[in-house]
Amino acid sequence: MEVIQTIQELRSQLSPRREQGRTIGFVPTMGYLHEGHRSLLERAREQSDVVVLSIFVNPLQFGPTEDFSRYPRDTQRDLAIADAAGADLVFLPSVAEMYPTHPPRTTVTVNGPVTSILDAVSRPGHFDGVATVVSKLFHIVEPDFAYFGMKDAQQVAVIRQMVDDLNFRVTIVPCPTVREEDGLAKSSRNVYLSAEERAQAVVLSQALRLAQDYVNNSKDAIDIAGLKQLIASHIRTAPLAVIDYAEAVTFPGFEPVDSWSPNGGSDLIVALAVKFGATRLIDNTIIPRK
Ligand code: PAJ
Repeated sequence: MEVIQTIQELRSQLSPRREQGRTIGFVPTMGYLHEGHRSLLERAREQSDVVVLSIFVNPLQFGPTEDFSRYPRDTQRDLAIADAAGADLVFLPSVAEMYPTHPPRTTVTVNGPVTSILDAVSRPGHFDGVATVVSKLFHIVEPDFAYFGMKDAQQVAVIRQMVDDLNFRVTIVPCPTVREEDGLAKSSRNVYLSAEERAQAVVLSQALRLAQDYVNNSKDAIDIAGLKQLIASHIRTAPLAVIDYAEAVTFPGFEPVDSWSPNGGSDLIVALAVKFGATRLIDNTIIPRK
């Protein structure tokens, strides 16, 4: 496994491989790797000839009051995990390498329903930062496949919109959410949780399960306000939980609806953002139409 810090060096490593007709699979991350990231690398390993991992904590996607400077970092541990998971090249650029002018003069904004809701509202500018860095990384790596986790389902939708609208050649491969044994979605941010917060954080995945059961047991169209109330009241059983949002919208359109029928037009995504102290956790589940 090669560790590469500059764009020029990465391009010169990838060009000959591409010319040999080898496919390139790309897993962009912000590091502090866990089983969720690992599952993306393993999927890439199965599907692509050359596996590229990037580790870059992207300042552009953090708000002024967010956790950019304290975001967890452990490069040595990350490299060991990447190596074991079969990565061929690890791209580890500095902020100056990615943003010689900071803030950059050109950015990417995805518009429409997908950026009018949920994290786009709670974290203004966040998806501009994500779209900008991912578009730069796609131009640098020129992957055939890029792997993203459905834990960040809205991020997947934003990237897909960008890829469609700007004619990137890459195929986006969404991968399932990897969870702890009690159901908590794996996240680099879970390390921030105190023991008490960690124990209570199980309410997120429990609330998603409740929503699934509620839909499965309903014969008629579902009143979304009622569904949201059910989820929120379960989350509130955790005294340390502060709800940012508990929403249910269409999937993959991310359009708000008042009622939803399993026999209707689209799937439903139930999406949560819940704070425990300074730590903001997100999770979601997709309820398919029949
Ligand atoms: P990061 O949070 O490091 O996540 C990198 C990738 O791992 C994302 O596609 C994310 O959805 C996926 N992932 C995280 N937790 C997961 C889990 N429990 N199961 C499955 N996949 C999981 O997302 C980002 O970084 C950044 O926004 C990035 C796309 C790298 C742009 O900076």
